[in-house]
Amino acid sequence: MNQNTSFHQPVFFENIHELLRIQPGQIVVDGTCGEGGHAALLAPCVLPDGKYIAIDRDGQILEKAKNRLMHYSHIDWFNENYSSIQEILARLEIQQIDRMIVDLGLSMFHLRIMERGFSFLSEEELDMRFNPADSPLSAFDVIHYFSESEISDILYSFGEEKMARRIAKKIVDKRGEKPIKTCRDLAKLIASVKGFSKGSHPATQSFQALRIYVNAELHHLNLLLSQSHLIFSKGALMAFITYHSIEDRIVKRFAIESPFFYMREKKPLTPSQEEISRNPAVRSAKLRVLVRS
Ligand SMILES: C[S@@+](CC[C@H](N)C(=O)[O-])C[C@H]1O[C@@H](n2cnc3c(N)ncnc32)[C@H](O)[C@@H]1O
Repeated sequence: MNQNTSFHQPVFFENIHELLRIQPGQIVVDGTCGEGGHAALLAPCVLPDGKYIAIDRDGQILEKAKNRLMHYSHIDWFNENYSSIQEILARLEIQQIDRMIVDLGLSMFHLRIMERGFSFLSEEELDMRFNPADSPLSAFDVIHYFSESEISDILYSFGEEKMARRIAKKIVDKRGEKPIKTCRDLAKLIASVKGFSKGSHPATQSFQALRIYVNAELHHLNLLLSQSHLIFSKGALMAFITYHSIEDRIVKRFAIESPFFYMREKKPLTPSQEEISRNPAVRSAKLRVLVRS
C-alpha cells in the first residue's frame, strides 16, 4: 500500500489494517487523527454503513485531514480531546464502539510546519501546546515561572532525564540573566550541560518532558483508559501506538490490571528495520492491541 509522502508518514501503516480487521458496518474511533494517515487507510473499511469518528485536539492539523478526506461523508470530525470520548459518543447517540486507534505523541507536521515550538532545531518561541485553548501553560511559562525543583521533577518524571537537576539549575541561572525565548536557545543550554554523544540530540528527553507536561498527556491517557470499559462492545479492539516507555508502561499495566481488557499479544509490535530506515522518527514506536473481554 503506497503512502502519500507529502503528509505525516503513519507508523505501522502496513500492519494496522491487518491487526484491527475492521469490518463493514463497524463504528471506529480514531482518537488522534492528525493529518489522517491511518484514517485514509481505515475509514473506507467500514463502508457502506459504518461510521468513522475522527478526533484531534489540534484544530489546525484536523483541518488538513478534513481537506484530505472530504470525499467521505461517513466521517464525523471532532476537534476535541480523545479523553472526551464519552461526551462525543453521547452527542452522536452511539452507545458502543468496535475499534479505537490512539497514535500518541506528535505529528511530523508539528515539528516541520507549525510554529508552536515543538522542535529543538527551530527559532520558534517555546510553546509546545497542541491546543493553547485547553492548556493554560506553555513550555516558556514552565521554564520561566516554575521553581528549580519543579522543573527538575518534570524533566525526570516525564523525560526520564538523568541530568534533570543539573539542567534545571542551569535553566534557573540563565533565565535570571535573560529570557530563554526560543527552542534553539533551550536546546543549546541543555546541550551545554549534557554535551553531545552518538544518537539523539541531548535535548530530546527534556523536550519530550515539557511537551507531556504542558499538554497533560498522561492525564488524558489515564482518563481515556479509566472510562474505556463503558464504551467498547464485547470483543472490541483498542490499539495504542506509543513512542516512549512511560506511555507504554501505562497501557501495559492497565491491560494487566483491568478486569475488562486483555492484551491480544503479550509483546508489543515494533517497527521493522525497513520502516525505521524509511522513517527514523518511529524507531521507538510500540503497538499494543487490547481486547474488551
Ligand atoms: C502521531 S500523531 C497522529 C498521526 C495520525 N495517526 C496519522 O496517521 O496521520 C498524534 C496526534 O495526536 C494528537 N493528540 C495528542 N494528544 C491528543 C489528545 N489527548 N486528544 C486528541 N488528540 C491528541 C496530536 O495533535 C497529533 O495530531
